[in-house]
Amino acid sequence: MSDRIRHPAFAARRMSAEQAARHIRHDMTVGMSGFTGAGYPKAIPGALAQHITDAHGRGEPFRIRVLTGASTAPELDGALARVDGIELRVPFQSDPELRSRINAGKLDYMDIHLGQLAEKVRYGFFGKIDVAVIEVSAIREDGSLVPSSSVGNNKTWLDMADAVILEVNRWQPDALDGMHDIFYDTALPPYRSPIPLTHPGERVGDPYLQVPLEKVIAVVETDAPDRNSPFKAPDATSKAIAEHLIDFLRFEVRQGRIPANLLPIQSGVGNIANAFMQGLGESEFTGLTAFTEVIQDGMLELIISGKMDLAAATSFSLSPVGIERFLEHADVLRDKIILRQQGVSNHPELVRRLGCIALNGMIEADIYGNVNSTHLMGTQMMNGIGGSGDFARNAYLSVFMAPSTAKNGLISTIVPMVSHVDHTEHDVSVIVTDQGLADLRMLSPRQRAKVIVEKCVHPSYRDMLADYIERATATSYGKHTPHLLPEALSWHERYLVTGSMFGPEATQAKD
Ligand code: COA
Repeated sequence: MSDRIRHPAFAARRMSAEQAARHIRHDMTVGMSGFTGAGYPKAIPGALAQHITDAHGRGEPFRIRVLTGASTAPELDGALARVDGIELRVPFQSDPELRSRINAGKLDYMDIHLGQLAEKVRYGFFGKIDVAVIEVSAIREDGSLVPSSSVGNNKTWLDMADAVILEVNRWQPDALDGMHDIFYDTALPPYRSPIPLTHPGERVGDPYLQVPLEKVIAVVETDAPDRNSPFKAPDATSKAIAEHLIDFLRFEVRQGRIPANLLPIQSGVGNIANAFMQGLGESEFTGLTAFTEVIQDGMLELIISGKMDLAAATSFSLSPVGIERFLEHADVLRDKIILRQQGVSNHPELVRRLGCIALNGMIEADIYGNVNSTHLMGTQMMNGIGGSGDFARNAYLSVFMAPSTAKNGLISTIVPMVSHVDHTEHDVSVIVTDQGLADLRMLSPRQRAKVIVEKCVHPSYRDMLADYIERATATSYGKHTPHLLPEALSWHERYLVTGSMFGPEATQAKD
């Protein structure tokens, strides 16, 4: 037996990825592990892609429904998309190949709140899970499973699937053993009890996943790294965003509305959120905690530097450099990080109880504070809503951030009306760009529009937006949330037609 497969009956089920992948057939629903490039199966998807290609070569149909925790990596999403093997993808993605096929209408994608997928599957809304393919770090002597670098929806896939394929990845560090907290609640509504967590660092479950041996149809050994792209180094724009936000947090502490070590932080995915964490590391704040979905490089550094006492999440989302840093400091990090299933890490009940400060990236916001996190020009899917909605609606403070312009100044990220709504004005407390920060609490729609234009809009677009608001306020059908309906989405239309949101009246330099 290998030191990573320490139970003889599991060891007896070892086989190649090629053999194991044969258990997955056309029209199946497959629950796979994986969350933002961490903990996804490394070998089965590639072997499956080959079987799909062979079947297509024989003229046979072969497409599956793929459910995961969140995004994965080219070896999973890319490999299956490339061979046209996915019929439906749920609940999040960020792979360029898969994204371009989704946007070409070649497969169906359901972008749903990450905290909700497991329970929706348990309610039976997605039918049955035929096979679960789950990466783990090790199989213990008693048959329990040491999860790998993400937990995601693995507990639910193991519980719900008819059959289970385990990938045991030797590359995953031994230090992960003991870092997880898997909450085993079995009741469905109306018999549910509260999740008894009152501090991000509390443990309410078991460090290991359970799977009945009789469900395990294959065990595949791998030795392959997680894949995540490097983050962009903070630039003047992301540093300005971080400074505005840190000043705002200082102000909130002075007002006595949040404690000096802040409230548990949730930090979203992407470069801007990562840059903010780096900015926080350079500030005076210490004793921080996080109750969040992912731990990106910036948050890891906060823990290593001693500024953050602990972080609870569902997954790592580290760049190759971040992974090196984790390995260097694994012994210290082990006691300061807890990984939970995403149904707990993103649970609205807990986000509200703990009073999280939710910090998420956005594509665009409008003058009233509605936020689009997902759709470029209203129609092209970027990644998905992820966990931003789980946190934004329930947070103590819900902050959305973005550079004031995109594509070299040709796009304003503050627009008259968002081209797609993920977070309504009711769920957004603060909007921050490199230009400044708009505190929207206690403001009516017209007051919000004024503050957002003053504080957040790039100077190149400020007059255009002020002019829109003035004309809308004068002539709108209703004066509560004034709009010029024929013009509300004209900035997006103009960009699609001319390659720029600048109107004919704009005279200032672009960025
Ligand atoms: N119109 C068109 N393109 C835009 C745009 C806009 N209004 N705003 C940003 N973009 C483009 C950028 O140009 C960039 O494209 P590029 O990579 O080709 O240069 C890309 O979108 C990413 O922008 P960036 O400024 O680097 O932001 P980011 O890496 O911080 O990501 C989101 C921003 C919104 C895409 C990201 O935060 C996200 O996916 N959010 C939704 C999920 C989420 O919030 N999860 C949190 C869970 S807890």
